[in-house]
Amino acid sequence: MLKPDQIPAHIGARRQSMPINNLTDKGKSLKHPAAKAPKIFADTGTIEEIHPLREAGIINGVTTNPTLMKRAGATSWQMAKEMMQEIVTLMAPYPVSLELTELQAEKMISQAEELAAYGDNVVIKVPVGGYGAVDSTLDRHTGLKVLHALWRRDIQTNATLIFNSTQALFAAQAGASYVSPFLGRLADYMYKHDRVEMPAGNALYYLEDHKGGKENSRTDNTPYVATSGARMDAGVRLIHEIAVIFANYDVTTEVLAASFRNGVQIPECLLCGADILTIPAPLLMGVADHPLTDEGMRSFVEDSKAFAS
Ligand code: E4P
Repeated sequence: MLKPDQIPAHIGARRQSMPINNLTDKGKSLKHPAAKAPKIFADTGTIEEIHPLREAGIINGVTTNPTLMKRAGATSWQMAKEMMQEIVTLMAPYPVSLELTELQAEKMISQAEELAAYGDNVVIKVPVGGYGAVDSTLDRHTGLKVLHALWRRDIQTNATLIFNSTQALFAAQAGASYVSPFLGRLADYMYKHDRVEMPAGNALYYLEDHKGGKENSRTDNTPYVATSGARMDAGVRLIHEIAVIFANYDVTTEVLAASFRNGVQIPECLLCGADILTIPAPLLMGVADHPLTDEGMRSFVEDSKAFAS
């Protein structure tokens, strides 16, 4: 398996041509020190989850989907639209992905135009495929056709439900601004179908050893230390494959790693060349925590009592 120092140099070189992610406010002379840091999005439909993350400067974008909107309390399309509009306004100028619910190309394009009118930061999320699976009369290329039509209309898109690099390449080819490989769902699948003796498993084995049959004592696969770029996760390996292919051909469609299951996947995806991570809000809430930070804070606070009087 590749280690971080074996990552092709052109993945790094591609980053140089990518956009500035953290903007400096107008009139401020203290420039943002991490202008080209990866974009970190919150994967949520709940405005209350977005507020604290935005205040902490942790996120510079949001992704939603119908499941997240339903979980956030939307009980009608009208209600979902109002909630999405609120998120778009709160997050401007940072991107917010809003997923289409229509399934026929023309209706999808009209729906996309309606949602895109909420703000310049709207990105339209289009499932890359699966249309034939939900309705056998639908065109299997519906997603790609819509991505292409929206590119021609200057509307930014996020091709979602990506599970292999071929889907990612053809979404980019159709004009997608972002592709979203679902690494967690792939890792879930691999966990379910993988065999104990397979040497290249996935990180879920080490963090959530449900079956009890896998080694779970490797500290370099815990969220508490560096991962060493071990790529023990099938989803992470997919991100790497897409990043290499895009870098090989100078594709500027951004690789948006989605469907996170644990903290190990965060640095692993970055080591592999992901441009953006969209992470569930509860996982983002814990990014400043570490058992040694807790211990250090306790002793600093205790010792600072010496200066109390
Ligand atoms: C991405 O944009 C999706 O909203 C999301 O990451 C899906 O994640 P899940 O597999 O946890 O549903």
